[in-house]
Amino acid sequence: MLKSIIKVKTQNILKLDKQKIINYLENDKIVIIKKIISKKLCNSITKYLTNISHNTIPNYFPIRIGSPNNFRVNLEDQRAMVKGSFYQFSFFPWNQDVFNFFKLFKNVFIFKNRINMLSDEEFFYPKSDKECAIRLSFQFYPKKTGFLNQHQDPVDYHQKYLMIMNLSKKGKDFRKGGLFSVIGKKKIMIDNFSEVGDLIFFKADIPHGVELIDPKSSPNLLEDKGRWMALFATNKLPKNNRIKNSVEKKS
Ligand SMILES: [Fe+2]
Repeated sequence: MLKSIIKVKTQNILKLDKQKIINYLENDKIVIIKKIISKKLCNSITKYLTNISHNTIPNYFPIRIGSPNNFRVNLEDQRAMVKGSFYQFSFFPWNQDVFNFFKLFKNVFIFKNRINMLSDEEFFYPKSDKECAIRLSFQFYPKKTGFLNQHQDPVDYHQKYLMIMNLSKKGKDFRKGGLFSVIGKKKIMIDNFSEVGDLIFFKADIPHGVELIDPKSSPNLLEDKGRWMALFATNKLPKNNRIKNSVEKKS
């Protein structure tokens, strides 16, 4: 096991020792909380999202209060702060969804707020576009084309740490590439150390990205195989001038 990776088991994320997790993260460790939801539930979520991608015309919606849940294709979209190629499915707490995601993952968002020293339901119900909002973002990186350039996300009052859930298994769903971070001068391929349903945390300003998935496979954008993940995001809304944008950074 790499020294940079700490694995934690729990039945209830809210019973974890918050300060212990913060200490790990502040020391540039990657914390993996094992299996917060079952593989079966992960598979039904990715199956549902795959069906959406096959049967919906994609659309871009900016993140603002009242935005609809949406499916977006980002194939090196020029509007994106960080260049990447992936499919994205965004869910907001003010909309309904068939999985009731914000009930299912309520404790995950609460724990994220707690380690950021915020009140439990901060950003759950924003009242103005000067604030921030929580968002659940599923991302699919197809074989051959899926990647996200190395970048750093802003560390600010809304979030110090990123929270990602793994929905694929490297070695089975794809073989090469995947989530990485750069700690010191060392590139850590995080997907080599995590399973379906694991929750991954690290400091937002640690350089990270997604290395091209299976570069040698044949391209097929509607192929179901590739890398799936969920991001428990806290996003600034359009009139929030307090928080900087993410920046690409070469190693
Ligand atoms: Fe990021």
